[in-house]
Amino acid sequence: MYEWIKALHVIAVISWMAGMLYLPRLFVYHCEAEKGSKQSETFKVMERRLMRAIINPAMIVTWLAGLYLVWAGHWYLSGWFHAKLLLVLVMSSVHGFFSRWRRDFEADRNTRSQKFYRIINEVPTVLMIFIVILVVVKPF
Ligand code: HEM
Repeated sequence: MYEWIKALHVIAVISWMAGMLYLPRLFVYHCEAEKGSKQSETFKVMERRLMRAIINPAMIVTWLAGLYLVWAGHWYLSGWFHAKLLLVLVMSSVHGFFSRWRRDFEADRNTRSQKFYRIINEVPTVLMIFIVILVVVKPF
């Protein structure tokens, strides 16, 4: 059972990360589109579908499967898990910010620059690298 849930966890993680890496890239392109233009409306649909169909459900499955693994594997006392939990909480907050910024784009009230989204784009990448090292290498 444990191995099956771990497989589900990794599948959900891949989907969540795919969305978390792609959405800010869409924001970068969306900044270039004129408000009210056809292109801007297309980006809105792409962003909404990515968020609702992939990113949100994938995050929920990642959390549910991950919490099962912690409970079943008695990992809650391990140092690597505490560090991973902290980074995963940061990732979940970034998710929350993406959700807010997506709604800003949808309402044509985005004021952040393209450069801002380019920089933010790197945050989930860096978090993901450290999370995977922690869970696979378990350095402490
Ligand atoms: C959302 C909260 C999360 C919790 C509670 C959680 C917890 C866990 C636990 C307890 C394991 C089992 C470790 C083992 O059996 O050795 C695991 C496996 C794994 N987690 Fe997470 N995790 C979460 C999110 C994430 C995220 C965001 C990523 C990647 C960005 C990730 C990547 C992985 C990977 C790659 C494995 C498989 C490691 C292996 O088989 O050696 N997890 N997770």
